[in-house]
Amino acid sequence: MTRRRLIIDCDPGHDDFAAIALAVTSGVFEIEAITAVCGNAPLPRTAANALAIADALGTSIPVYAGAVAPLLHRYDFPAAFHGVTGLDSAGATLPPPRRPLAPGHAALEIAARVNAAPGEITLAVVGPMTNVALALALDPDIASKVRELVFMGGGIVGGNVTARAEFNIWADPEAAAIVLNSGIKTTMFGLDVTNRAFIDTDDLKRLRAAVPAPNPVADIIQFYSERSGDIAAGRVPGPALHDTCPIAWLIDPTLFQTESLSVTVETAPGPGYGATDADRRTWAPDHLPRIDVALELDRPRLARLVTDALVEAARRIADRR
Ligand code: RIB
Ligand code: CA
Repeated sequence: MTRRRLIIDCDPGHDDFAAIALAVTSGVFEIEAITAVCGNAPLPRTAANALAIADALGTSIPVYAGAVAPLLHRYDFPAAFHGVTGLDSAGATLPPPRRPLAPGHAALEIAARVNAAPGEITLAVVGPMTNVALALALDPDIASKVRELVFMGGGIVGGNVTARAEFNIWADPEAAAIVLNSGIKTTMFGLDVTNRAFIDTDDLKRLRAAVPAPNPVADIIQFYSERSGDIAAGRVPGPALHDTCPIAWLIDPTLFQTESLSVTVETAPGPGYGATDADRRTWAPDHLPRIDVALELDRPRLARLVTDALVEAARRIADRR
């Protein structure tokens, strides 16, 4: 079976780490590049984390640094959730990478790779969309050459940074508007499903038992779990690994149910800044650009797939020590 050619654009980020581990260990992707963007932490940190993850998993995937800042929005980085490094751990950390970042800017690399392989490259975007928006601004024609784009971001039912806006979109709504209006075949995994994409206590125990200490994968996920408001409130038993959803869908589309909707991003200043609004009227005009939006998921099967990937990642990291 030919592997799906994939670029992962991310802001590691604990759930970005889980998404990369899922993609790498699944065996179904030819991961052409990992591109980093500012988001959960400043760009130097997210790029360093992406490189450490790719290297610790034993891959030679090139990692490129991208946008240092969103197109317009400026905000304080959410260290409360991901720590000052962007990938803080409750104990052991990933080993330092044995190679440097690849030269060149992520946006230029995305455009160059898509142009070199029209119709071949899938973009998985699990952070703010600044790099992809920049690539589209540099070369708008790539919109017709991207095989498809899957992303974690937004939410029809509401937000997490504000009542209406989810972090990845809120961090750079103007970039998201550029990407969602580009005409690229797009599938959205918003909070509608990702808030329910949690692994449970049995999954966490299985991860903890995967390898003898040190187990940096378990410790990193534990840090993230200890900062989950939903766990603290007793709403879920374990951490929601938002960014794994688009990758899991590429691996097994039966894990989710999607609906074709017209989705707009609010870029006007105010309480709705960064919100993703879906037109769910059955008589909605057909001329508006539509994307596929995931609205339901098979959580137990998703959790099993993600936990299997995290266990395999823990084993690969242990074997490289
Ligand atoms: O809202 C969840 C998103 O924000 C995830 O991508 C997480 O990594 C953070 O960036
Ligand atoms: Ca992310």
